[in-house]
Amino acid sequence: MHQAIAILDSGVGGLTVAKEVMRQLPQEEIIYFGDTERAPYGPRAADEVLKFTEQIVSYLLQFNPKMIIIACNTATAIALQHIRSQVGIPVVGVVQPGARAAIKKTRSGTIGVIGTENTIRSGAYQHALQAINPHIQVVGLACPTLVPLVEKRLYRSNEAKQTVRESLRPLMNSPIDCLILGCTHYPFLASAIAEVIGPRVAMISSADETAREVSAILHHRGQLAQSGKIPVHRFFCSGDPGMFQAIAQEWLGEQIKVSPVFWQMTRLSGN
Ligand code: DGL
Repeated sequence: MHQAIAILDSGVGGLTVAKEVMRQLPQEEIIYFGDTERAPYGPRAADEVLKFTEQIVSYLLQFNPKMIIIACNTATAIALQHIRSQVGIPVVGVVQPGARAAIKKTRSGTIGVIGTENTIRSGAYQHALQAINPHIQVVGLACPTLVPLVEKRLYRSNEAKQTVRESLRPLMNSPIDCLILGCTHYPFLASAIAEVIGPRVAMISSADETAREVSAILHHRGQLAQSGKIPVHRFFCSGDPGMFQAIAQEWLGEQIKVSPVFWQMTRLSGN
């Protein structure tokens, strides 16, 4: 039976993972949900992020997906274990793949992580990295001003360059040789970030390794799509569909349709 891969994020950030899944697994159909109305999740209370993630997962389950990717570090840090225990299909987060990618790359063993307040506060990357290698040193930095820039489609602006520069200042004298983009929105700002950190620090995004993990799980389960047809992806968002569509088309380089889900989210959140 034909089943899609469901991908969720607080907003447009998970598109950075979706794009890599589309590239590595071109036969797979994607159903994407961006909770743009309620982004950012970074400064929200953990129980709220947990509730929102549960709501989106139950929304996505109506499409009978074969797998769920929580393409949001904040939701992964807070809700991954809970969601895994609730649903009967594989649920992949982005923290573990990001940690693995950094471990592969680092030579000095000192790794920087930037993310939302919730992600950094949770210590999720520190745990994931040190579970693999307890000698790894982790330097974490919350960058709360970056996600709103991306959601407003300002990732190519001078304001974005300036904000990235100011946000990363605390890392400037740190001996890291890798920097994990511990928020799926940050690849939108990759060129501004690269300019600030310079060529000696490798920038790590979870997207590539997450897509590889998805591919391996589907292969192992005998669930890789084999239609031979170009899949039709579906996109849903809870906020302004025009803004979501503009960002998604720019990032994915293709025309897409976006379905707004205002009423569903209103009903789900009980307002
Ligand atoms: N893309 C989400 C993440 O990876 C952004 C979180 C937010 O909405 O603040 O953490």
